[in-house]
Amino acid sequence: MNKKLGICIAGLDGAVASTMVAGTALLRRGLTQPLALLSEPFAKSHALARWNDIVFAGWDLRSENLHAAALRNAVVGPCKLKPVRRELAALKPWAVGADRIAAFRREHKLDTVVVLNLLPTGQHAASKQYARLAAKHGCPFVNFTPNDCGERALRDVPFAGRDGKTGQTWLKSVLAPALRDRAFRITGWYSTNLLGNEDGKIVGDPVLGAAKIRDKTKLLGEMLGYEPHHTVRIEYFPPRGDTKESWDYIEADGFLGLPIQFRISAQYRDSILAAPMCLDLCRFIALAHRRGETGNQKWLSLYFKAPYGGPPHDFFRQEQALREYLAAIRA
Ligand SMILES: NC(=O)c1ccc[n+]([C@@H]2O[C@H](COP(=O)([O-])OP(=O)(O)OC[C@H]3O[C@@H](n4cnc5c(N)ncnc54)[C@H](O)[C@@H]3O)[C@@H](O)[C@H]2O)c1
Repeated sequence: MNKKLGICIAGLDGAVASTMVAGTALLRRGLTQPLALLSEPFAKSHALARWNDIVFAGWDLRSENLHAAALRNAVVGPCKLKPVRRELAALKPWAVGADRIAAFRREHKLDTVVVLNLLPTGQHAASKQYARLAAKHGCPFVNFTPNDCGERALRDVPFAGRDGKTGQTWLKSVLAPALRDRAFRITGWYSTNLLGNEDGKIVGDPVLGAAKIRDKTKLLGEMLGYEPHHTVRIEYFPPRGDTKESWDYIEADGFLGLPIQFRISAQYRDSILAAPMCLDLCRFIALAHRRGETGNQKWLSLYFKAPYGGPPHDFFRQEQALREYLAAIRA
């Protein structure tokens, strides 16, 4: 039997959160297909929460209802939002830090409440506060941000993190192992991003964005077993909005030491990649909770740039770990 799932989001009015809530409302009505959701093929076999079983709540500094937040964040267009306008407008964030989880659980008769951290980069103290609230109420916790959440406080609940591996870094974790296994020697990898949303304003700042740059940089050497020349840049460029542009230039040595070059450019809405991953994470970690798991859920590491517990960063090995976990439950 599917279980009723509450998702409490720290940063409910943000770009990723409002896209996630709007997307779920559209999925519930069958107005969009469940694309980019790894959890969907396992929904029936593993009794994951269905779209109808999911209820959202959460906190934000802004007190915008979710329709206003989705319009402001401009990830999903107003026409697409129209059929779910009322439902979104009825949802407003709680005041920052308010301890409302028990009442939320009771009011909606929820079996599991997951706390999802979508606070801005750099908000370590507030992230720790929400992690402690999750632990206090026995809620699984997902940290999609690069922030330090004080994981020790979470040892009695299942948790997963850190820093969602959405676009460029995900592609790096696919390509680098492929080039390594083809026995090319990578000599240089230059990555740059243009991003114009609120997150971009922070992560494009050399000081505030330092943790993000570190997360995006560290994994290449760990996958290859040596350190090529590796540069990662994030440029805040407001005209881009949420539509991120990323460029990668890879220089490698092939047979006879002759050069091989790859140039990859990609354009996508950042939150359109992140929102389904957050939905997957909440459905999967609720499953772990139901099974009585506690502590770091390493089988979910494919979703993160800097997974708790460290490497492997290689997407295929991480994906295999997820499939093995799910297969073992089914057996
Ligand atoms: N979009 C992606 O692809 C992606 C990928 C990896 C990681 N992330 C991380 O996800 C997080 C969210 O990204 P976003 O684009 O939605 O950011 P955003 O800036 O749009 O949203 C953050 C929200 O948090 C709210 N907030 C600030 N302080 C708060 C507090 N103390 N309590 C409650 N709410 C508070 C803000 O008002 C805002 O609405 C960021 O840390 C980002 O680095 C995003």
